[in-house]
Amino acid sequence: MGKKHQTPLLDELKKGKWISFVREIERAAEKSERTEDLLGQVEESYHDKVNHWKHGGMAGVKGYGAGMVGRFSEYPDKYPGIKECHSMRIIPSAGFFYNSDFLRKLADISEKHAGGLLNFHGATGNIQILGMSQAEAEDVFQAVAELGFDLGGSGSDLRTPSCCAGQARCEFANFDTMKICRHLTEEYLDELHRPAFNYKFKFKFSGCANDCVASAARSDLAFIGTWKDKIKINQEEVKNYKKKFNVQKYVLDKCPTKCMWFEGENLVIDDENCVKCMHCINELPKALKAGDERGCSILIGAKAPLVTGPRMGMMLVPFYDVNEDAKNDYEWIKSLISNMWEFWDEYGVSRERIGELIGRVGLNTFLEGIGLEPIPEMVEHPRSNPFIKFTEDEEE
Ligand code: HEM
Ligand code: SF4
Ligand code: SF4
Repeated sequence: MGKKHQTPLLDELKKGKWISFVREIERAAEKSERTEDLLGQVEESYHDKVNHWKHGGMAGVKGYGAGMVGRFSEYPDKYPGIKECHSMRIIPSAGFFYNSDFLRKLADISEKHAGGLLNFHGATGNIQILGMSQAEAEDVFQAVAELGFDLGGSGSDLRTPSCCAGQARCEFANFDTMKICRHLTEEYLDELHRPAFNYKFKFKFSGCANDCVASAARSDLAFIGTWKDKIKINQEEVKNYKKKFNVQKYVLDKCPTKCMWFEGENLVIDDENCVKCMHCINELPKALKAGDERGCSILIGAKAPLVTGPRMGMMLVPFYDVNEDAKNDYEWIKSLISNMWEFWDEYGVSRERIGELIGRVGLNTFLEGIGLEPIPEMVEHPRSNPFIKFTEDEEE
């Protein structure tokens, strides 16, 4: 350990105006010697154009089946500092709000027990401490626990839920994304720490259709804020915007359902035909606001390509009264989730995401299994082929 490596290729990446990850790793290496070996191996990967980590790897803490990702260097003799280079996932604060005291203490933990490197944040939302050995894992875990933080998910479990900052700092939020995110995380800690599913399962919460955590694309169950009643219009502010730019061209003409027009000076919205796309509110935030009957839509089944192709979430519940359900500790959504997980447990095969299961058994079978009625909002268009299955009693 401690040997300084030549890194001509990585040194190129210290040039330019964007913050350099090479410079950051060098700074960490000043305090955590082993991180110098990380630079050495990454340089070798740049040269060989292949990665030099061994396949897979297990690491973890007692009592949990998830939360760490094990990783071993292919050249432990050459790079002893990263012979073991595991990462630990930590559940972030909802909305990613921290104070500097916490961040300083976390950095101290990483400098003392690991490679001095942190990832803010993993794509699912976890804080990650990078580069520790299995022997250090329990100490890191205890130190993190003392700060009041717990490990996140990994493997075939409920992964760490995440949310947009919503009501904390955004006037578009239709529900308290941070509150439900935190509540369901705590409710399902067992499912998160001890993998018992066919495969991974993710929750994400966005306060409105702008979907700042990309829940529709990156979570098996996506909650996206919306409203049921009329958009509130401040006609004076509309007039102010009209002085600044062409509201007709950039707002009305771009409404996807063409449900807005001017009557004289006044803006009119035919809310029955509004699909709550957020465009007009995004463009005229001082003039337009979502209505009072707020809640969210629930989409199901998003996933990356493996195995049967990528999917975005499909509409499962057009309007979930999340603000009302919050008063009952989210009883309604918790019972829907448990029906869903039971069905997936019963009929899903190993490493089958819930979206793939629905594709295989059919949406109607899934709906029956979880106790929801089929409704038109669930499909983009009706089926175009005539291969319709009827149950025996329907056939008479
Ligand atoms: C005008 C000509 C033909 C028509 C209208 C026709 C129509 C059909 C239909 C409606 C089916 C049932 C499909 C289903 O159950 O989903 C079928 C199946 C089949 N046809 Fe034809 N067919 C024609 C010619 C042929 C020829 C020339 C062959 C063979 C050389 C053939 C071999 C088969 C076979 C093997 C099956 C599958 C039977 C099964 O899976 O049980 N067909 N055909
Ligand atoms: S998703 Fe909507 S509510 Fe949440 S931060 Fe983005 S714009 Fe605001
Ligand atoms: S939210 Fe979208 S669909 Fe509704 S009025 Fe505004 S632009 Fe049109």
